[in-house]
Amino acid sequence: GAAVEVDISNIKPGEKLTVEWRGKPVWIVRRTPEQLASLKLNDPELADPMSKRKPSELTPVYARNEVRSIKPEVFVAVGICTHLGCSPSDRFQPGPQASLPDTWHGGFLCACHGSTFDLAGRVYKNKPAPDNLEVPPHMYMTDNKILIG
Ligand code: FES
Repeated sequence: GAAVEVDISNIKPGEKLTVEWRGKPVWIVRRTPEQLASLKLNDPELADPMSKRKPSELTPVYARNEVRSIKPEVFVAVGICTHLGCSPSDRFQPGPQASLPDTWHGGFLCACHGSTFDLAGRVYKNKPAPDNLEVPPHMYMTDNKILIG
């Protein structure tokens, strides 16, 4: 399928842009310094914190790091749950909330069967979704332009 060029210059810290690539939603989240700092706190609660599972399908080599991205602040992921394909919704606000752990630091909730993902798309333990969200192939054309696909 065709690659998609995305201008990310208008995404503010803490915001998400959704684009379509190969009929799938792709999210681009500009994470704040606080959100980035909180990611490591999630590690003990995650099923695959270092994204070692299915690396060739889910995590390109340039995103095989703790924040799962090329530039730390810019997270790019396919917005489709790895369980049965629903699209998780944003739960960026930290703190206790319905259906989320008390130690929530922000991320995504799949309402279909309750899988939760952190702001690096890493799935929490003991959830129906077996894997982290997919990071699609992408590259920077300029500082503010990403080519997805
Ligand atoms: Fe997301 Fe089942 S499809 S938890």
